[in-house]
Amino acid sequence: MKLWNVERIRTDTYEKKLACVTVYDYTSAKLADAAGFPLLLVGDSLGMTMLGFPTTLPVTLEMMLHHTAAVVRGVSDALVVADMPFLTYQVSVSEGIRNAGRFLQEAGADAVKIEGGAIRADLISALTQNGIPVLGHIGLTPQSVNQMGGYKVQGRTQAAAEQLIQDARILEQAGAFGVVLECIPPDVAESITASLDIPTIGIGAGPGCDGQILVMNDLLGLSTQPPAKFVKPYAALAKTMQEAFAAYIQEVQNGTFPSAEHCYARIS
Ligand code: KIV
Repeated sequence: MKLWNVERIRTDTYEKKLACVTVYDYTSAKLADAAGFPLLLVGDSLGMTMLGFPTTLPVTLEMMLHHTAAVVRGVSDALVVADMPFLTYQVSVSEGIRNAGRFLQEAGADAVKIEGGAIRADLISALTQNGIPVLGHIGLTPQSVNQMGGYKVQGRTQAAAEQLIQDARILEQAGAFGVVLECIPPDVAESITASLDIPTIGIGAGPGCDGQILVMNDLLGLSTQPPAKFVKPYAALAKTMQEAFAAYIQEVQNGTFPSAEHCYARIS
């Protein structure tokens, strides 16, 4: 049995806050799991970080299933949550159930994440009543980038903040085991956190959430773009990789690699 399951995440007291990260492949999942993350998200941000798309919109169900299965193979203890990509849950509740079910049945995920507030209540009720745990996601919802007119901070006006608080309550009532709060002012995130029993997991939402999540590439300094304001890189892996690539090229070119220690001896 895994150390972390939906029930443990839902009912934890959060004296120690939940540290979460996105992962997209077997190796990073294995390393993140060994580091002790309770929750790993196979985010549809993989569209940008792994596949080079400009937004998450081109990410398909098949792409997400492929990456989720790879992550699951690397994880022993963390809860694995798979992001449902654009157009796999918006069309109808029945399509949403069928597509979400594939993440559990075919890829081995423990739960799915769905973007949107009150409009997702029926789907979340149907999924959770049918044994598919759901993590909600409100605030900046990247699949709605066109509707929002860009990647903008949400919940800045009183009316928008109240709408977010109401959305979060509705997601909890519908059965979500937690909710991601993306790019909202810290006081709004605090009010949402105080009004819910389920955990809030913030990204660009300040310190008042029950947990935090970062995109792995941002956390590791692996991004090729300058990081967003809310990102703190804990390493500079892009630089480390560039240096390693350059050193290897140089040693191959000047013949110092491979040296004797990298060669096999004959058996006489
Ligand atoms: O896709 C993703 O990485 C996400 C996180 C930013 C929460 O949804």
